[in-house]
Amino acid sequence: MSVEQELIERALECAAADDPKLNERIYKNFYDAMPDAEQLMSHVDEGVRGKMMAEIYRLLLTKDVAASDSDYLVFETKTHANSYFVQPEMYRLLSDVLLQTLRLSAARVWGPAVEASVSRRLNAMTTAINSALINN
Ligand code: HEM
Repeated sequence: MSVEQELIERALECAAADDPKLNERIYKNFYDAMPDAEQLMSHVDEGVRGKMMAEIYRLLLTKDVAASDSDYLVFETKTHANSYFVQPEMYRLLSDVLLQTLRLSAARVWGPAVEASVSRRLNAMTTAINSALINN
């Protein structure tokens, strides 16, 4: 396993272990930063919110998301735009909020190498999402 992969896995495991309210915190920070997103998600129950976060963690744990998940991302971004009215800029914001939240929730193992690895992976995910949005 690459060092980058190991650091990302360690950070996510630490955040999940040290912060039992991790998902709740991510959504709260997301809504505080973008009240329009809270409006869009007001009807969404905890189960669906959990499913969405599980997919986002899966993408974050995927080494080359553009290669493995481009079809999936085209499908989700299409559904998100057409059925849920999600705006393109909301993806970058959610990614920024995820980084900021993980920094604190995984503080026990966080450091410059973890920051660089998680940031790089989130950038790759956002780039793949932007390509999917262009293909919609
Ligand atoms: C990497 C980014 C994202 C991924 C992988 C993702 C994935 C998912 C998944 C798997 C679901 C569950 C139902 C389904 O499969 O459609 C879902 C639901 C939803 N997502 Fe996302 N999502 C992402 C970003 C966003 C963003 C930025 C918003 C903005 C507010 C958003 C809003 C919603 C809403 C409103 C629903 C509920 C749909 C409903 O059941 O009515 N998502 N998302």
